Amino acid sequence: VTTDEFHRRHGESFRTNGYAKPPWHIYDQFVRAVHQPGAILEVSCGNGLLLRYVTELSGLPLEPYGLDINRDAIREARERTFPERAECFVHADLREGLPFARTFATILANPLYADPGYYEQVDGKIPRLHFDGSMERLIHTCWDALAPGGQLLLWCYDGHFAEIAPQIDDFRQMLNELNLGLTERPSGPVVFWESGEKGVKSQ
Ligand SMILES: C[S@@+](CC[C@H](N)C(=O)[O-])C[C@H]1O[C@@H](n2cnc3c(N)ncnc32)[C@H](O)[C@@H]1O
Repeated sequence: VTTDEFHRRHGESFRTNGYAKPPWHIYDQFVRAVHQPGAILEVSCGNGLLLRYVTELSGLPLEPYGLDINRDAIREARERTFPERAECFVHADLREGLPFARTFATILANPLYADPGYYEQVDGKIPRLHFDGSMERLIHTCWDALAPGGQLLLWCYDGHFAEIAPQIDDFRQMLNELNLGLTERPSGPVVFWESGEKGVKSQ
């Protein structure tokens, strides 16, 4: 499946996931970043559109799972984006742990969403992150839910990366102290922090 084919197949059948227009050029980076077949969890998946795109374009046999705090987004994921996997999309708050009693081959998470600073936006900007331990907790929760050989993919859109630029050293130090072998990799409109395979190249 190519990007054009995805659009031909689905036309306007999915909503835009909160964006004026879905950021397909960003979603393309996730298609390239995911390497493991099997269960893939997106923490804060919105309506699941990114997972749908990655699942169809990656060429890998993927079993998508998602959670989001927005009830309407999860309803949309269950009814429109993944009706065949409705039970795999759950309304939950990422700060309260994962609502799945299983492990995953890949987990995608934006750690900024766990920090209270993310919610203190002024003029659409993130003024400061609190580093109150909530990002660490989220990352540990995700790491614990990775199957052996699995990969954790943390990410941040370039706009947010620019916004946290004054605090980027603190952010990197926090990731460093976690000691999970997360490697920073800028990839066009998104920055990834990728782990090696759990139990193989890191930890
Ligand atoms: C900008 S959207 C990103 C949607 C999708 N991941 C994408 O990249 O297209 C951010 C999502 O994070 C979700 N979110 C924010 N805080 C959350 C929390 N505490 N628990 C779960 N989801 C949360 C929002 O409801 C929203 O759907």
